[in-house]
Amino acid sequence: MEQGTATVLENRLAAPGVYRLRIEAPALAGAAGPGQFLMLRIGQTLDPLLRRPFSIHAVHGSRTVDILYRVVGKGTNILTTLRSGEGLDIVGPLGCGFSWREESPSLLVAGGMGIAPLFFLAQIIAKNGVGDKTSALIGARNKTELLCVEELKAMGLQVQVTTEDGSAGKRGLVTGLLTNRVAALRPVIYSCGPYPMLHAVASLAMQYGLSCQVSLESFMACGLGACLGCVAEMKNGDLVRVCKEGPVFDAYEVAWK
Ligand SMILES: Cc1cc2nc3c(=O)[nH]c(=O)nc-3n(C[C@H](O)[C@H](O)[C@H](O)COP(=O)(O)OP(=O)(O)OC[C@H]3O[C@@H](n4cnc5c(N)ncnc54)[C@H](O)[C@@H]3O)c2cc1C
Ligand code: FES
Repeated sequence: MEQGTATVLENRLAAPGVYRLRIEAPALAGAAGPGQFLMLRIGQTLDPLLRRPFSIHAVHGSRTVDILYRVVGKGTNILTTLRSGEGLDIVGPLGCGFSWREESPSLLVAGGMGIAPLFFLAQIIAKNGVGDKTSALIGARNKTELLCVEELKAMGLQVQVTTEDGSAGKRGLVTGLLTNRVAALRPVIYSCGPYPMLHAVASLAMQYGLSCQVSLESFMACGLGACLGCVAEMKNGDLVRVCKEGPVFDAYEVAWK
């Protein structure tokens, strides 16, 4: 884990309300694994005081890292003002990410911004030459909120999309596509998205007896395991830190509510 200043290379609108931030951060690029995240210090003043967590979205070569972020509040609004050449204070890579099992077919299930960490996993899978044996189900509210579909197809993945309003792909929730895929493929499932979606994915995986890893989201103050602000409950009663023991957990271990 490193703390340092990365250089902003690009900060571009990728979709309405979503930006792709590209930074030069060699130490991070060399050490990051899919599902890990970094904490960004936003701005030079005390407001916002706390760093904000963002997934590592992509790594290009040995020096460059992408973050894909949706603008929701003060911090992410300030982030949009960053320009090429500016410095950005980062800590990372943090947390425990996905452990990809090369021997089994993989199914990536993303809801909304959940595609952010799964894209990096797809990069690793494609690099290992099994992109074409990998499926991705991507759900969004509407067509404009669908992210990374063409890039994933270009990596060779079989991609299916759903939108809640039917403006692209199948109308409905991404979990609607899941039953067919799990019955046919018996894959290992890797998922990130809103909690109800993860719960549904986990339930189906358990019903079919399939391995499933989920990336949980939690409000994070320190991101380093020190403040206990991000705890989640496991089935065995343990309270675990999403930032340290996670954010990726075995779906069978989470106390779903
Ligand atoms: C491990 C992890 C990885 C993440 N990766 C990404 C990513 O790759 N891309 C991305 O766009 N977002 C990601 N997030 C969520 C991101 O951290 C928040 O959207 C961001 O901190 C909001 O900051 P803000 O100052 O703009 O909003 P704030 O002003 O702090 O909050 C505005 C609203 O945003 C929501 N929000 C704030 N923080 C969180 C949070 N931690 N989780 C859920 N909702 C929150 C709340 O609804 C809040 O009311 C991640 C969160 C975690 C915990
Ligand atoms: S955010 Fe502080 S312990 Fe996880």
